[in-house]
Amino acid sequence: MAESRFDFDRVIDRSGTQSEKWDKYRGRDIIPLWVADMDFLSPPAVITALHERVSHGIFGYTRPPEELVEAVLCHLSREFGWDVAKEWLLWIPGLVCGLNLLCRAVGSEGDEVLTFTPVYPPFLSAPGLSRRSLVTAPLLLEGARWVIDFQALERAITPRSRLLLLCNPHNPVGRVWSRSELEALALVAARHDLVIGSDDIHAGLILDPEKRHLPIAALSPETARRSITLLAPSKSYNIPGLGCSFAVIPDPELRRAFRATQSGIVPHVNALGYTAALAAYRDGEGWRQELLEYLRGNRDLVTEWMGRMPGVAMTHVEATYLAWIDARQLGCEDPVKFFEAAGVGLSDGADFGGPGFIRLNFGAPRQLLIEALRRMERAVIEKRRGC
Ligand SMILES: Cc1ncc(COP(=O)(O)O)c(C=O)c1O
Repeated sequence: MAESRFDFDRVIDRSGTQSEKWDKYRGRDIIPLWVADMDFLSPPAVITALHERVSHGIFGYTRPPEELVEAVLCHLSREFGWDVAKEWLLWIPGLVCGLNLLCRAVGSEGDEVLTFTPVYPPFLSAPGLSRRSLVTAPLLLEGARWVIDFQALERAITPRSRLLLLCNPHNPVGRVWSRSELEALALVAARHDLVIGSDDIHAGLILDPEKRHLPIAALSPETARRSITLLAPSKSYNIPGLGCSFAVIPDPELRRAFRATQSGIVPHVNALGYTAALAAYRDGEGWRQELLEYLRGNRDLVTEWMGRMPGVAMTHVEATYLAWIDARQLGCEDPVKFFEAAGVGLSDGADFGGPGFIRLNFGAPRQLLIEALRRMERAVIEKRRGC
């Protein structure tokens, strides 16, 4: 393997930075492996670009830089084989904001929004906040792999269904949806005239080298016309606190509706967000490739430890830095509290529509991750012994 240029092993103290992840357990000996940001420095190119922008000293209203638009189009074409026109891009400060916007932009009050569970919690809250009804179809565990249950999806569709919210790659089950799965979904959407809102925030984090991210909108012009795809450099380059994201909306009518919904309410992307995004897409590729290598190692480690811990089961993580772990056989009422007591902070599966599951964020230096896994193993073994 080529020598590493970036130090993902370095443990960096994040205290005093108002980190949501770390401050939750401030003053307690709990390793936080919950909210989805990583404990790694951002790419050096991003840090340098931010320094340069800050040293200019004027932070006025800022338009999306033309170079950023070019860098995004180039990234989408190179990474996903997706040719996007620049007028299809709308800039937004975050994907949760994007999910809520698209629920409001599609259909009308009382319409139904479909999604698959378990899923990232804002998928479950955005429809209600937007005066739509949430309808869920559970994913199916087929062998050791989570798949879409197309029969459950068909059963969930009614004449009020307008929007299908897709998470691709999927948080929390870590699936990279295949071409055939996406084609089948696109057929369902066409048959029932659904708009597809696809959150592709984790698209740059495909861990299995033989897999490739495919945005559903890239399948065909027909599917593109009924799709709104949300993307950001935030997860792949570890800059989620800088709030620079975008929606890709090929259809002019949908674009108009999305823009009208955001108008006067959603703020501009901030100047530093644009700067970081440009540096990430233009100059961060070498860093991202090394990150993926490091995350693969972390994923394999988590898989190995979970494989030998009694009472927990984990499926293969094809993408993201999030492991979805079945803790129902552990025999504790609240697995999050149980592991917090052991010194590890995890996300509660119940918030994702998967009670009894926990989500573990392995985007951390290996030393920290190993210590967390050690604590979890010790707790599980002690529980088995009835201590
Ligand atoms: C699928 C998914 N969408 C959106 C977000 C959050 O996006 P943002 O911080 O841009 O609102 C996350 C963060 O974990 C996520 O996993």
